[in-house]
Amino acid sequence: MKASFSELFGGDGARAFFAPGRVNLIGEHTDYNGGHVFPCALSFGTYALARKRSDRLIRLASLNIGDGRIFESPLDGLRYEKEADWTNYPKGVIWAFAEAGHPLPEGLDVLYFGNIPAGAGLSSSASLEVLTGILLRELYVFQDVSQTDLALLGQKAENQFVGMNCGIMDQFASAMGKKDHAIYLDAATLDFEYAPLTLPDAKIVITNSEVKHQLASSEYNTRRAECEKAVSEISRVRPLKTLGELTPEEFEKLKGCLSDEVLVRRARHAVTENARTAEAYEALRAGRTDTFGLLMNASHTSLEKDYEVSCPEVDFLVHEAWKIPGVIGSRITGGGFGGCTVSIVRNDAIDAFRSTLSDRYKKAYDVTAEFYIAEPGDGAHEIMA
Ligand code: GLA
Repeated sequence: MKASFSELFGGDGARAFFAPGRVNLIGEHTDYNGGHVFPCALSFGTYALARKRSDRLIRLASLNIGDGRIFESPLDGLRYEKEADWTNYPKGVIWAFAEAGHPLPEGLDVLYFGNIPAGAGLSSSASLEVLTGILLRELYVFQDVSQTDLALLGQKAENQFVGMNCGIMDQFASAMGKKDHAIYLDAATLDFEYAPLTLPDAKIVITNSEVKHQLASSEYNTRRAECEKAVSEISRVRPLKTLGELTPEEFEKLKGCLSDEVLVRRARHAVTENARTAEAYEALRAGRTDTFGLLMNASHTSLEKDYEVSCPEVDFLVHEAWKIPGVIGSRITGGGFGGCTVSIVRNDAIDAFRSTLSDRYKKAYDVTAEFYIAEPGDGAHEIMA
């Protein structure tokens, strides 16, 4: 990256930064419903080399996309532009910093490189946002910007600049990750606890269906709207702000006031998934990995049938995984409509898991699935030479 930086921008003196992707273990589509999530940061993510300029230009390039093309723009008057492609994410973060009272005094040159598969539900965009946040904080010495602020500013960029109404989970995991730990986060308050994730005889295996989650942003925004509608209908009889405030028992009593069957299923997912996530956190802390696995399976069924954010390829990978000996649990992970599954697999079954699943998937869909072993890693940081 250093050689490419000098070639593209001239000279050296750039500082290096990293922000990870994430995999969510359980707690899907609960964050914007005021519930809990349980993700961990990954050891792969996005890297940047960055250096301040003395004028008011922003120059951005990526080694992944655009073949080293430099996207140049003035620092002033930033707004979303379709042609700006992936650079809308970093520009959105610069915009969010300015909105939060941290305008940049001068521009910068940044070169990015990421090793998260794009469109796979492993948060390549959140890692790009949080990475941009940390490099801005360090280069311009915005000392009062905390790691949590990096997550919030990244989310603001995504919601208000890019136009995807995501919750806080991905940016939070990327900013706050801790090696060998998962984060049990209350998305309503941002209170969180780290839970050790060193499984004694099993690993977390991610399987990429290679189905890019294209419907994701429009359908995602629809799910959010459906949940908001459910809240407003329920609140006529039981005042509430989010579905995360209800237990499954309370919901069963209240569901009769919802105007249609689709809303019942959407809301039931949000409520039961939140309860499962709390149970899964307790199970993991108590070393009950099998219980954790069963909760992951139940999470998948709820996402498949009630929330309808899966797709046939991903359902196939999960249903086949459940049949393979040594698989403790398996489910879709991330926003959905394609992307990856996350499975907990006993160490002595990992080879068989990969080969069996890969063969069956290839036969059924003529697609070669990719497998990654997740190593929970640290959140965004500067890389010191
Ligand atoms: C996407 C969003 C998150 C979260 C998940 C679903 O990854 O960015 O905020 O809502 O989907 O759990």
